Amino acid sequence: MSLLYSKAVLGPLTLQNHLVMAPMTRNRAAGNIPNALMAEYYAQRAAAGLILTEGTSPSPDGLGYPRIPGIFSPAQVEGWKRITDAVHAGGAKIFVQIMHCGRIAHPLNLPAGARMLAPSAVAAGGEIYTDAEGMKPHPAPQAMSESDISGTIAEYAQAARNAMTAGFDGIELHGANGYLLEQFIRPNTNRRTDRYGGPIENRARFVLEVAEAAIAAIGKDKVGIRLSPFGVFNDMPLYDTMEADYTYLAQQLNLRGLLYIHLVDHAAMGAPPVPDALKATFRKLFQRVLILSGGYDAGRAETDLAAGKCDLVAVGRPFLSNPDLVTRWETGAALNAPDMATFYTPGPKGYTDYPALKK
Ligand SMILES: Cc1cc2nc3c(=O)[nH]c(=O)nc-3n(C[C@H](O)[C@H](O)[C@H](O)COP(=O)(O)O)c2cc1C
Repeated sequence: MSLLYSKAVLGPLTLQNHLVMAPMTRNRAAGNIPNALMAEYYAQRAAAGLILTEGTSPSPDGLGYPRIPGIFSPAQVEGWKRITDAVHAGGAKIFVQIMHCGRIAHPLNLPAGARMLAPSAVAAGGEIYTDAEGMKPHPAPQAMSESDISGTIAEYAQAARNAMTAGFDGIELHGANGYLLEQFIRPNTNRRTDRYGGPIENRARFVLEVAEAAIAAIGKDKVGIRLSPFGVFNDMPLYDTMEADYTYLAQQLNLRGLLYIHLVDHAAMGAPPVPDALKATFRKLFQRVLILSGGYDAGRAETDLAAGKCDLVAVGRPFLSNPDLVTRWETGAALNAPDMATFYTPGPKGYTDYPALKK
C-alpha cells in the first residue's frame, strides 16, 4: 500500500497525496505581476498534494531578481487569485513562498525607490543576472536599521494577509538558500552588534519575529518555513556551530507552533549533504509536520515516508519538467528531462510546453 499516493493531512488541510511541488523561481512574472501563463503552468501541475509557489516578494525591496512576482500590490493579489482558483480546480492546495532576496539583488533589478537591505553591509561573492546589463557583480547591501527591521517584519505580515485575500491555503517563509531570513541566521552575513546579531539567540530573532508576525496575521495553521542547514548557495559558507544553531531554531520554531518545517538538502545539486542526525533532530524536536526535499525519486520518497523520516516529500526539477509527475511516478512511466537553459527565461518555452502523457 503506497503512502505517497494516498491522502495526507497537513494541519487542518487534507491533501490528495503526499507529494509537494517544491518552490521554483521561474522568472515569468513580467512587471513582477502574476499572469495567465503562470496560471496555466501551476494548473498543469495541480495533481500534486500541495504546490509551493516560486519565491514571491513581500516588498519592492525584496525583488532581487528580474521578473519574479510580488504579493504586496493589489494587481499582484488579483493575479495570484486567478492562480489559486486554477490550482484549487485541479485538486491541489497551494501555499505562496514569501522570499525577500535581501543582499541577493541588484539595483538594476529593483523598482525605483527600492533598497537592497540586509543585516549587514556584506556583499555576496560572485555575480547576479540583470535583464538590463546581463551578469553584474553583487553590490554591497545597506545594513538594516531597527526601523528597517520592524518595517520589513510588518511587510511580511501584510504579505501573509494578502495571501489570504488571494485565496492561498497558507504561506511558506523562505528561510533557506541565502536570502534575507538566512542572512540573519548566518554569521558571515550577520555582523550586527545589536540584539539581532552575535549569539544564535540574537541571529534567530529576526526569523522568529517574522514567524510570530505571520502567525499573528493569519494563524499558526497557515504558516510554514523552509530552512537549509548546511546549505552554501549564495555565498553562505559552512561554519562550526551550524548544527547547534539549527537545533536551536528547531526548538524555537516548535515553541511558536507553526504548521511545518520544510528542510532543503541540496546534496543532489552538489552542496554538502544535511547530516541524517540533524534531520532526525528536527523530526524529534519539531512536533508538527516535517517536509523533506532534494533529489527525491518515487522510490526514495516512499521509503522515507514509510520510515517516518518525514510527513511529506517535496520535489523540484521532476515537477518542473513533468506536469503529470504524479501519474508518471505512480505508473512507472518515463520522465521528461528538465531543460536548464529555459529555467529562468521569459515566455512559454521550457515552462508550459513540457508534454503530458497521452491519455
Ligand atoms: C529552477 C529552480 C528554481 C528554484 N527556485 C527556488 C525558490 O524560489 N525557492 C526555493 O526555496 N527553492 C528554489 N529552488 C530549489 C528547489 O525548491 C529544490 O529544493 C531543488 O530543486 C532540489 O530539489 P529537486 O532535486 O527535487 O529538484 C529552485 C530550484 C530550481 C531548479
